[in-house]
Amino acid sequence: MKVLVTGGAGYIGSHTTLCLLEEGHEVVVFDNLVNSSLESMRRVQDLAGRTVEFVEGDLLDASAVASVFSGASFDAVIHFAGLKAVGESVADPLRYYRTNVVGTLNLLDGMNAAGVRRLVFSSSATVYGASEDVPLPESLPLNATNPYGRTKEQIEDILTDISSADERWSIGLLRYFNPAGAHSSGRIGEDPRGIPNNLVPFVAQVAVGRHKAVMVFGNDYPTPDGTGIRDYIHVMDLAEGHLAALHFLKDRTGAFQWNLGTGQGSSVLEVIEAFSTVVSKKIPYEFAPRRKGDAALSYADASSARNQLRWTAKRDLARMCADHWNWQRSNPRGYDSSL
Ligand code: NAD
Ligand code: WQD
Repeated sequence: MKVLVTGGAGYIGSHTTLCLLEEGHEVVVFDNLVNSSLESMRRVQDLAGRTVEFVEGDLLDASAVASVFSGASFDAVIHFAGLKAVGESVADPLRYYRTNVVGTLNLLDGMNAAGVRRLVFSSSATVYGASEDVPLPESLPLNATNPYGRTKEQIEDILTDISSADERWSIGLLRYFNPAGAHSSGRIGEDPRGIPNNLVPFVAQVAVGRHKAVMVFGNDYPTPDGTGIRDYIHVMDLAEGHLAALHFLKDRTGAFQWNLGTGQGSSVLEVIEAFSTVVSKKIPYEFAPRRKGDAALSYADASSARNQLRWTAKRDLARMCADHWNWQRSNPRGYDSSL
């Protein structure tokens, strides 16, 4: 297949691009590099031993989007591009609605005009809001609690509506739980700008000495050890989930939602412990107040993806921490380390 990958230079996009290349697909990446670097593309090409066509462009530039489609005939699009920081979305909601929602509308216009109607979209478990009805099935009502989450919910609605209006569309809405880890080579991984908000990259930066201790947000939740429980999923499992979705959509039309999670929850303390084991030293942590908006627990009912896509997550938390650490210690300053 010839696949357009928006946001393909980013964390999940780069791992998925590598899997696509390894499966023999032709890939064009469209990314404005607002949260990524070209170095990830260089390394993906090295690992795959194949080239990726890279187009630097912004989804908010409708003519740039149209010109990508005019130059090629794509079988499918995987749409990762967007902004993803919850706190930033609360502070600057317009930027988030514009980039995520308007950016997606421009992409859909481009696809429609070019007659490309197979799409896999990066949604998020954040659309379930504060629901703790675990394991969370896809059928739950969507109830995002912040602007970032609402952009995902709105895009899901838009995609569902266009597929109802025109039966030629085939659309996969992938609701990721908590991505972590890196490619086993340690050459590509997550490269957060500034201080990471997410637990695993923060723990990794403590392990590498960039921060003194992990702040554990809340130890009074109704969970066995009092800390929040999440469904951490290896980024390579996620990447493989995209290929499974592409294959499923090949001979079907309609809009489908799938949770991509392991179905297993791990607490904050369990993550810190797993990481400590990998680095063979204690990772310092301190208890801090709960973070506003956090649910006590969230993990996936992963049965739809298992039954329909024949996909399950294969890598456990220990592997996620080991791979994340392998990437972190060989690239202590992310992709900048090599520049
Ligand atoms: P990322 O920031 O590493 O990747 C996003 C990519 O999109 C970046 O390379 C960025 O430069 C690009 N981009 C942003 N705005 C753009 C624009 N206007 N035009 C073109 N390119 C643009 O993030 P990620 O972790 O790889 O996430 C990928 C997708 O998955 C996002 O849509 C995100 O919301 C979603 N998601 C991520 C997580 C997570 O925790 N990482 C969880 C659930 C869903
Ligand atoms: C995990 C657990 C924290 C940091 C977020 C987004 C979600 C999705 C994935 C994009 C929680 C605790 C964290 C720290 C801590 N992204 N924690 N100390 O909040 O489940 O999900 O990322 O779609 O939309 O909301 O992930 O990694 O931030 O937190 O104690 O320094 O770790 O309280 O229990 P979260 P997270």
